[in-house]
Amino acid sequence: MRVVSLAEEDDFEGWRDAARALAGARAPATDISWRVGESVVGLFDAASSQPLPPAATFTVPRAFISLAESVICHSDPERFALLYAMLLRLRDRPAALDDAADPLVQRLERLAKAVRRDIHKMHAFLRFREVATPEGPRYVAWFEPDHHIVRAVAGFFVRRFAGMRWSILTPELSLHWDGEILAEGPGAARGDAPSEDPTEEAWSTYYSAIFNPARLSVGAMLKEMPKKYWKNLPETALVSGMIKEARGREAAMVAASAGTDGKMARAKADLGDTEREGLAAADAAERRLEPGGNALAAWEALLAEAKVCTRCHLYKHATQTVFGEGPLDARIMFIGEQPGDQEDLAGRPFVGPAGQLFDRALVEAGVDRARTYVTNAVKHFKFEPRGKRRIHQKPDGREIEACRWWIEQERMLIRPPVIVALGATAGRSLFGRAVTISRMRGEPHVLPDGEAGEAWVTVHPSFLLRVPDADRKREEYRRFVDDLHRIGERARALA
Ligand code: URA
Repeated sequence: MRVVSLAEEDDFEGWRDAARALAGARAPATDISWRVGESVVGLFDAASSQPLPPAATFTVPRAFISLAESVICHSDPERFALLYAMLLRLRDRPAALDDAADPLVQRLERLAKAVRRDIHKMHAFLRFREVATPEGPRYVAWFEPDHHIVRAVAGFFVRRFAGMRWSILTPELSLHWDGEILAEGPGAARGDAPSEDPTEEAWSTYYSAIFNPARLSVGAMLKEMPKKYWKNLPETALVSGMIKEARGREAAMVAASAGTDGKMARAKADLGDTEREGLAAADAAERRLEPGGNALAAWEALLAEAKVCTRCHLYKHATQTVFGEGPLDARIMFIGEQPGDQEDLAGRPFVGPAGQLFDRALVEAGVDRARTYVTNAVKHFKFEPRGKRRIHQKPDGREIEACRWWIEQERMLIRPPVIVALGATAGRSLFGRAVTISRMRGEPHVLPDGEAGEAWVTVHPSFLLRVPDADRKREEYRRFVDDLHRIGERARALA
């Protein structure tokens, strides 16, 4: 028996290095005992019967790496061995992970899903309380995760609360952030964290003050908070105010950034009425956002706000906002570029020529559009009038950036396991940078904001309409259908 000793419960690098060497040497899974924190034994224990033959190198799909990174955090003691068994399979059959009916694949997916849920719960429900210290206030939270996820979530809280001093205490490990450095400490007990306290109000005020309108995700809050949390979380009490304020602050930011530009100053003056309409719409939607409200109410609230969006100038000439559509539990979210002429008139995404081609390709790929959520990176039609015609114009970086807010709301509300960027504009919106489709298509990518789920990139259907050569057009269309097929399979596997 070979004994592998890992440094920590979530020691992904330790597992990966050992597993790579062992699988390269074809060491059987039954021959390995995985342990945690036993420094007395090395990778190849003296008790191991034979030296390893020289290791051969091999590669594994990136999807396996991200699966393994999640699974490692599970509390199941068998996780290391299960992953190793999968690695051995992948060595001989690189597509082994695509076999969604395989019990091992299913088990690993279940473990990864449980970990992602745990991470999400910690993101959503961790509750800080203010503690006075000689250096000033520190915000302390107690949480008991089901799995070994504390290190995995650290980056999220550092990014989210970069400007405050906080500690997260858990039975296994503590994290302490001083505004610059993240330190780890030993596990703690519930009694080490402040209990119900009178500083709730201070925390609410603080949360409200640091709250960045560009990050407001009403949808995520409402969908993910079980009803029992609604009453208790101070943030919830702020939801109504936040919705209103987000729009107000946003308008103020737009106006401030307009500076001395006369045109923008006029836009700021215009904003008054539109803004009032927006608030009225948000008010109406808010009435449905009471405890017991659901994801649909949250989506309707977003829609109501989006309908009167003035985040960039495109609303001035378009007929209407074209928001996303589809079931809110969709496993796949498709992001296009922007509505075209027909979408602008119909108020629905992908109904014109590109939409029809998209529909046909989805059918051939075995993906039911009615079970997907389809939206656009930019929600207003950008065009140049030419006689009676309106000629499509590509949205620029600022317009994409302004509209990202909506995409983030939709993503947080729906949280699809698979998000697909159709074309470069959608890619830029999703990844926050220019992407090269030819380099990124055909495989899953980690979402740049650390959210669960995977991102895929493929061409935009209107690209296929523009390919002049008939043979090449057929070939590109076939590749597009293949991409969609693979995406559909992946969504099924992850669901
Ligand atoms: N092109 C897009 O990107 N989106 C649409 O909704 C229609 C055409």
